[in-house]
Amino acid sequence: MAEYDYDVLVIGAGPGGYVAAIRAAQLGLKTACAEGRETLGGTCLNVGCIPSKALLHGSEKYDEAVNGTFANYGIKTGPVELDLSAMQAQKLDSVKGLTGGIEFLFKKNKVTWLKGYATFEDAHSVTVAGQKISAKHIVIATGSSVTPLPGVTVDNDAGVVVDSTGALALNRVPEHLVVIGGGVIGLELGSVWRRLGAKVTVVEYLDQLLPGMDGDVRKEAAKIFKKQGMALKLSTKVTGVAVEGSKATLTVEPSAGGAAETIEADCVLVAIGRKPNTDGLGLDKIGLELNGRGQIETDHDFRTKVDGVWAIGDVIPGPMLAHKAEDEGIAVAENIAGLTGIVNHDVIPGVVYTFPEFAGVGLTQEAALEKAGGDQSKIKVSKFPMLANSRAKTNHEPDGFVKVIADAQTDRVLGVWAIASVAGTMIAEAALALEFGATSEDIAYTCHAHPTHSEALKEAAMGIREKPIHI
Ligand code: FAD
Ligand code: NAI
Repeated sequence: MAEYDYDVLVIGAGPGGYVAAIRAAQLGLKTACAEGRETLGGTCLNVGCIPSKALLHGSEKYDEAVNGTFANYGIKTGPVELDLSAMQAQKLDSVKGLTGGIEFLFKKNKVTWLKGYATFEDAHSVTVAGQKISAKHIVIATGSSVTPLPGVTVDNDAGVVVDSTGALALNRVPEHLVVIGGGVIGLELGSVWRRLGAKVTVVEYLDQLLPGMDGDVRKEAAKIFKKQGMALKLSTKVTGVAVEGSKATLTVEPSAGGAAETIEADCVLVAIGRKPNTDGLGLDKIGLELNGRGQIETDHDFRTKVDGVWAIGDVIPGPMLAHKAEDEGIAVAENIAGLTGIVNHDVIPGVVYTFPEFAGVGLTQEAALEKAGGDQSKIKVSKFPMLANSRAKTNHEPDGFVKVIADAQTDRVLGVWAIASVAGTMIAEAALALEFGATSEDIAYTCHAHPTHSEALKEAAMGIREKPIHI
């Protein structure tokens, strides 16, 4: 009889966990995956990436129909009406299709889905739905959940103070949506509801939106979102939210302290970050401690300090992104199988799927300068405006730019930042360039199809050593 029930048991079936389970099974390991949710796919497929993109896409189409974009192309529309329940239904269809797809892939690859939440008994066994199951290797891929704002109670069912899950499921367009947190969720979901007709105010603690992105990109983001009609209250903190029936009153004051004021809203979205899911896992039973940020630390191979226990995705340090979790899922399975699974954490692209999209990979200009010891002569920066890109201009998409940051001596590309309608797609090329250790010259001398938005990356790269042609 085998010593363990499974070779590999993955806890959590988000993009990290389901990918790890499938890859382990592909490598010939007997694999199970515990998931307590009713459907597979984790935060990303159920209440994250996929439903938010379904609403972003739908709301963008609606916005184009009502805000005069169609008129730019000589298309006259009659009265345009929003059928919110149909828009929500198409979102659910996407979610159902994709989560069902993972269930199909589990069956195809012979991954056993253990339905329920897993708790450690010891380093090689867990209990799921009252059943004890053992495995030689256990991968923790339990993901993350919304960070609560002290003193503010989220009630997604009531729909007045909601988190991202509630904001994805509203059955009415709020009159005034106040978003607490000008990060990725706040701007994506704020955009959805602004396009569908809500007045949107974003309250952000810091002096700029989108922490972690390049400084120029952050400044430009504020300009663009303001131009689109979002009200931004930067350097402002929320000190309380009082709810009475269907109305909320927020008390805000300058982050640095000062006079308080109130804002009335009929919907408040709390989007101030996410925290790792470790409650109820029984980590104390295996002697696994968390770091100061509540995360599980691992080594380069995704091994925790406990032999046989591995961890990946949002529950470990690094950006909380689905593609980072997926790549770690592949790498951990390969490492368990005795292969060499590697994730280059220096090259993880980030994308905000608003209009235009905001994307970046590698170092920000600020980080590159810091790495260069503050010596400006050690880095080169070139920016090319989308206004001078023929395709963006033809498509009536003047906002944005591509920015390339390179090492002045070696010409190696250190970071690329883009604001463009298709920046999320364009950034893949930049990620490949960074992964291959490309120089700006490599990008500049690579033939790019015309007319494409991607030519803006080529021209920005040309600007590092020589001059772009079109400005
Ligand atoms: P998760 O996807 O959180 O999955 C973990 C799973 O583990 C969950 O299903 C949970 O039920 C399960 N679980 C937890 N504890 C247990 C247990 N004890 N036993 C069994 N199961 C357990 N990222 C992007 O890259 N692009 C995007 O466009 C994007 N959009 C987002 C939009 C929103 C609104 C949100 C909230 C997030 C978004 N993200 C996006 C982030 C992305 O969803 C996460 O980075 C990603 O899902 C992390 O994957 P994971 O596998 O680590 O964890
Ligand atoms: P975030 O970290 O992106 O932004 C949170 C914002 O809230 C920050 O700007 C922060 O300064 C601000 N903040 C914190 N406390 C505050 C307070 N008390 N008052 C006002 N502002 C406050 O977190 P967010 O938007 O909640 O998203 C969580 C994570 O989910 C992201 O970090 C990202 O990893 C992931 N995500 C990724 C997406 C994508 O890749 N397109 C889309 C949505 C989420």
